[in-house]
Amino acid sequence: MGRKTYESIGKALPNRENLVLTRDLNYSLADAKVVHDKAEVLEIARDKQVYITGGAEIYRLFLKDADALVVTHVEAHCGGDTIFPELDWQNWRLVKREDGVRDEKNELDYWYGWYEKKAHA
Ligand SMILES: NC(=O)c1ccc[n+]([C@@H]2O[C@H](COP(=O)([O-])OP(=O)(O)OC[C@H]3O[C@@H](n4cnc5c(N)ncnc54)[C@H](OP(=O)(O)O)[C@@H]3O)[C@@H](O)[C@H]2O)c1
Repeated sequence: MGRKTYESIGKALPNRENLVLTRDLNYSLADAKVVHDKAEVLEIARDKQVYITGGAEIYRLFLKDADALVVTHVEAHCGGDTIFPELDWQNWRLVKREDGVRDEKNELDYWYGWYEKKAHA
């Protein structure tokens, strides 16, 4: 994840190794490994399944390397200043979907989609 996403969460995601990207060579974290460029991430990630968890800058940086997407689709129109990069959905095949549960914490309809990149893409 990017440094801004880490700071918006305020801590590492539990039960997994977390990598946080920043250009600041003095940045350090107690609960995550700090890395400084894409090549370093790819080296650490070799032979491992890695999830890119955003935000927008980091999605943009890695999108062309991804072979699968896990997307939460929220059925709402909303504004914002941080936007997932443009995606050509023709290049992705939906292989599984699951409806989200509406409750007091999640008042909007939403669903999870798992996508694989098509062979030609
Ligand atoms: N809805 C979702 O699924 C989702 C997921 C994740 C995040 N978010 C939200 O997205 C927002 C943050 O997104 P964002 O796009 O503003 O920031 P971001 O992608 O989280 O982080 C950007 C930072 O990453 C570092 N970085 C970017 N490219 C780099 C590179 N090539 N090499 C080294 N470091 C690099 C820089 O850190 P330095 O400035 O420290 O150098 C940059 O400022 C937050 O509000 C978060 O809550 C939403």
